Formats: sequence, C-alpha cells, structure tokens
Amino acid sequence: MKKTESNHNPTLAILPAFQRLSDNTRDNTIVMTSGKGIFVYDDKGNEYLEATSSFYGAILGYGDEELIAAIEEQLHKLPFYPPGVYRGNDKAIELADKLVSMVPLKDARVAFGTSGSEANEYALKMILFRNIARGETERKKVISRVGCYHGSTIVAASMTSSEGENREFGLPLPGYLSTIQPDYFNLHHEGEDEEQFVQRNIETIEQLILKEGSETVAAFIAEPVSYNAGLTIPSLNYFPELKSMLQRYKVELIVDEVVTGFGRTGNMFGSQTFNIEPSCMTFAKGFSSAYIPISAAVIPGDIYTEIEKEVDSLGFFGHGATYQGHAVASAAALKTIDIVEKRELPAHAARAGEYLLKKVKQYNSHPLVINTRGIGLSAAIEFRHDDNSGYPGHYPCKFTELIYEKAPEHGLIVRQQGSSILFTPPLVITQNEIDEIFRRFDLALHAAEMAFPDYKM
Ligand SMILES: Cc1ncc(COP(=O)(O)O)c(C=O)c1O
Repeated sequence: MKKTESNHNPTLAILPAFQRLSDNTRDNTIVMTSGKGIFVYDDKGNEYLEATSSFYGAILGYGDEELIAAIEEQLHKLPFYPPGVYRGNDKAIELADKLVSMVPLKDARVAFGTSGSEANEYALKMILFRNIARGETERKKVISRVGCYHGSTIVAASMTSSEGENREFGLPLPGYLSTIQPDYFNLHHEGEDEEQFVQRNIETIEQLILKEGSETVAAFIAEPVSYNAGLTIPSLNYFPELKSMLQRYKVELIVDEVVTGFGRTGNMFGSQTFNIEPSCMTFAKGFSSAYIPISAAVIPGDIYTEIEKEVDSLGFFGHGATYQGHAVASAAALKTIDIVEKRELPAHAARAGEYLLKKVKQYNSHPLVINTRGIGLSAAIEFRHDDNSGYPGHYPCKFTELIYEKAPEHGLIVRQQGSSILFTPPLVITQNEIDEIFRRFDLALHAAEMAFPDYKM
C-alpha cells in the first residue's frame, strides 16, 4: 500500500485497526462503498473479489436478499428492546433457543454481546463467576496460545498472545499466560512425528499449569483452527488429549468459534471438525454473516446452575450490556443460521474447500513456497520467511507483504498472516469463482515477484 501524507492528504478522523496510524490517510485507504456476492466495490468503481469474507465475517457474501429482508422486517417491527430487568424481546429469546439446540453443550445458556472480544470476555467472566460461587477465588488465570487472536479489549487482548496487540499497553494483564501453538509444520523437532508433537504440546501445557499452581488456572482458550497464527490446523487427537489433561486440573476449555462457527471448517462448528468437547463456546462474525454486529458466549447448564445458586443470594445477576440480544441483530443471526442450514453451507464449504485446497497445492512448486494447507473452506500458502524472529503466523516476510499490497491492484483481497497468505472466501462461493480467485492471485503473485529483489526462478 502506498504511504503518502501531505497537507492535501491529512490523516482520517476514523481510527483504523491494525495499521500504522500515521498511514491513515484517504489516499492510503481503499474505501468500499458497495458489495454484491463475493465482490466489493470501492468509491472509484474498482471491483475486488473478497477472498477473506471481509475479515472472516461475510460468510454469505454481500447483498443476500433473504437476509436483508429479515433485517428490514425486524427494523419495522421492533428494532431494539434490551433483555433484562424482567423484560426481553422475542427475537433474542428465539435466537438463544436456536443456538442452544445446535451446540454440543448440555442445557446451555447464552449471553449475547456485540463483538467476538466481548463474547470471549463473557465466557471467561461466567467461568470466574462460577469459581467464585464455588469459593475458588484464586482460580483466575487463563492460558492461550502464541499467535492466537481472541480480541482487542483489555482482557481479550490479554488472552491474545500476539505482540502487536499487547506491546503498547503493557499487556497481558497479570495471570494471562501463553503456550505453544499446535503448528507441526513450523514447530516440530527433527525426527518428531505428529503424535509425538501433540504429546510434547500437551506436556508443555501441563507443566505450565503445574508451575503456576493448578488451583489458580481457570481456563484455556483456543480457536479450533488459528487463522491468526497463519492457519494452524491441529492434528485430530490434539483437542481430545488437551481436554482430558485440562479436566484433570479442572481447567475449563473456552472454544473460540468466532471464525470457525457456522460452516467454515466444513461442519457447523469447528468443534465437530476437531473432536472438541468445549466447556464454553463463543461466536461472532459469521453468526449474522457480519451484516449486523452480534456475538454470543454459550455456557453449559452445570456452570449456569452454580452461578444461579450464588446470585440467588444477591437477588440479581450483575452482568449485562445495552445492546446484548439486539432485536435486529438477533433477527439477522436467526436468518443467517436458517440460510446456512437450508442451503447446507457447511457441506458446500467442505466440497468447495477440497477444490480450494487443490488450487493452493498447485503452488507447491513455486520456489518461495514452503507449505500449503487447508481445512473446510480455508486454505493457506506459506512462503519462505525472512528470518525466524517472531512466531508462526507472525514471521516477517517481505514477499507476502508485497502480495498483500499488489493483490488489490489485481482486484483481489487476501489475508496476510506473517509468511502465509490465507484464502477464506464466502461459504457461497462457486467453483468458477474459486478459479477467478487464482486467476487474480497469479497476477498479484507475478507483480510481487517482479517487485521482490531476491526473487529468482
Ligand atoms: C478467532 C477470533 N476471536 C475473536 C475475535 C475478536 O472479534 P471482534 O473483532 O469482533 O472483537 C476475532 C477477530 O478477528 C477472531 O478472529
């Protein structure tokens, strides 16, 4: 992206996410004004194929008329009524019932929010609340995995073991710990097979719990697949082994399904794809295809019951937010789930994902490519990184920076995570449209090669 600033190009008033603030000028910003299907259009009329679903959010693509109609209808009927203090709205109640009927949690209960960060904090808060109810007031620590992403509010950022989110603020807060990602490709030792790698992972985590004092550790939070760590796909035995170890120490497993929920991995939830038995689950993004902000933390009945008993003595439950269970957002989520179910989008994602994976594997012969991988409708091409500073998903790589920069010039938006380029298109994508991703990607790749001083065929 060109970096220009002058008196005629002052920085914008809006604070952008995850970029140098001094680069925040109109000239440096592609300003989207409309979208249709898998495409978005900027204020100059340029078309971009959104191969990331816009930060993993717009799983139905843009302009889904059925979803828009449901949102419009709710806007006319009752746009907003906050749930709580003996009042509620029908859509939020219906949505909670629907979600509870879908998740692999017994007698679940739902706390709605508006962002993934909020949902992760709510899930943790419920666990901490329950621990207090049990008299385990010291059990507060949380473990996450290096390179993960769970949000950017103070606690969610503390659960996000990435320097970028933490450095400036002196985070993580005390008691927020980090451990190894199950990234076999980048992190296995010489001669170590996948099974041994998983065992080492679990032992590392167990040692951390013991070192901290197991009675002080409340939760382990993980995405089924870490997109932020460059699409880290764990072995199928990783989560079952992790869960049984965590159970020994009464550490709850919060499964962050903010990206993987509602079809991305080829099943409704990433927990199904990776044999995960969550203690709690969180959702956002694809929950409403990102048309309206909404998120959810889902807790099982046993955690709920303990909280309920405790708050009975207080007479009320001291947790809430004005926009939680927003009626229009709830209608959007209900309709999104309806569309995902009736169009069988998880199965479609699995099929289209096989084709996507075939396409990325074609780059294995590229001189700078070191790995290709995929799961469901997600795929990554990992390029040789500049050096080993940082960690997977955050390794410095000038070449992927160039691809990221050149792709929009060729009508394509991809995600760059360190030395990997990720493709996570809307779940409604067709095979021809996947071909179109790679037609455009080849142009961006060629442009990056031309601009990369060290590139040699
Ligand atoms: C896995 C995961 N969890 C949580 C979040 C935080 O969600 P939000 O940006 O809505 O706060 C994100 C955002 O990208 C995410 O990818």
